[in-house]
Amino acid sequence: MVRVITYGTFDLFHEGHYRLLERAKALGDYLIVGVTTDAYDKTRGKLNVIDPLPARIENVKKTGFADEVIIEEAAGQKFNDIKKFHIDIFTVGSDWVGCFDYLKDYCQVIYLERTKNISSTMLREQNSPIQRVGIIGTGRIAHRFIPEAKLVSGITTQGVYNPHKESTERFARKWEINGYTDLEKFYESIDSAYIASPHETHYSYIKSALEHGKHVLCEKPMVLKRSQAEELFSYAREHGLVLFEGIKTAYCPGFGKLLGIACSGSIGSIRNVEACFTKLESKNSREMTDLTYGGSFTELGSYVLLPILKLFGENFETINFEYIEGENGLDLFTKASVRYETGMAAATCGLGVKSEGRLLIAGTKGYIVVEAPWWKTRYFEVHYENPEEVEKYSERFLGDGLRYEISDFLTMINGTGKSGIKLTRRESIVLADVMERFLRTCRRTREGASERSSH
Ligand code: CTP
Repeated sequence: MVRVITYGTFDLFHEGHYRLLERAKALGDYLIVGVTTDAYDKTRGKLNVIDPLPARIENVKKTGFADEVIIEEAAGQKFNDIKKFHIDIFTVGSDWVGCFDYLKDYCQVIYLERTKNISSTMLREQNSPIQRVGIIGTGRIAHRFIPEAKLVSGITTQGVYNPHKESTERFARKWEINGYTDLEKFYESIDSAYIASPHETHYSYIKSALEHGKHVLCEKPMVLKRSQAEELFSYAREHGLVLFEGIKTAYCPGFGKLLGIACSGSIGSIRNVEACFTKLESKNSREMTDLTYGGSFTELGSYVLLPILKLFGENFETINFEYIEGENGLDLFTKASVRYETGMAAATCGLGVKSEGRLLIAGTKGYIVVEAPWWKTRYFEVHYENPEEVEKYSERFLGDGLRYEISDFLTMINGTGKSGIKLTRRESIVLADVMERFLRTCRRTREGASERSSH
């Protein structure tokens, strides 16, 4: 008996899939079909799969060609399956030519010609027209957006806006997109905006983008005042628009896994969360020189507050800030201590002081530790009273990680995702509230200091 195996996602089952399975079956007597899990697809950068796994399996079964369906959960599984199932022939479509030649030592590898002019990607794009995204701002993070957005199907970066002509032209040339210095023209050419301009400009750009009927993905911190966040979210909701705060950690698969385990009860009830993120910046950078909105907390505070809000919720009892100021009065190193009814937390960040960036979650039965860069969660450990008992978890984090938030943004726009729950509106509003409190505290202290020095 000749045993054949093939693998695929089989999303939005189409003729190309049918023909592939038909020919795969004809290669032998027994056909095994491996269908990828959603989690595996995410880790290999295949985002925006629409049909859930059970539906994709069902569609493969319905063809009647598969004698057995298995799930493909991880890279490297193919090799093991071939041995385990005594496979004679491995086959996939010709889009993979050469990719699986390494399996030739174990079985025959056949690349079947792909059916022309049909793919899941095409169908996904037909179902929901391509989102034309425009970038506002030309800074460091804007440069990261474009290569990451290219990996998400259904989205295209249409252009960039910056009021400064020279920066716009340089950016547009580099990425071969349109450059705009006229905001109205820019809005006319896009469906949604990615805002990566300086913090203090976010509010007015979000507002104008929403008023022009555009969905918005805005870099953190989205806004620096609670009332602004509330106003913008309610405007977006009333007008059926998506407004999303881009804290990449919130959308990455490893962080989701970490939250799941932390909340599963395996470390008992959570009593303490400590998150630290420091990054040494040049003295001349915007973060170190913008006296109104620069400093460590506005730059990194969103990251360190995120796990605290996720694990303890939005209703803290008190929050207190302590910080070390640089010569220009900006906070170089900041600690926010947050008190909850059931526990406490510390959010530490620094631009002018280097420390160990770590996330520690302590519970009544054990603790979880994630070393730097925990904000790109790849690996974490769960420890218990017995030091020998350690559980280790890992998850892939691809590229710059922006692809996960871009993909979630898109699925929210297309109405297929529940990604809002990864970072809720309420959480974004509380983040704005904490930023506002922090800036108020700083200003009070600074005013106090200048009053003191003038006496
Ligand atoms: N396939 C094919 N002809 C097509 C599309 C897919 O022969 N027009 C084959 C693939 O080569 C693979 C299998 O069907 O062996 C499952 O492919 P999958 O990646 O699930 O489908 P695609 O339509 O290629 O999906 P996507 O656009 O998301 O990459």
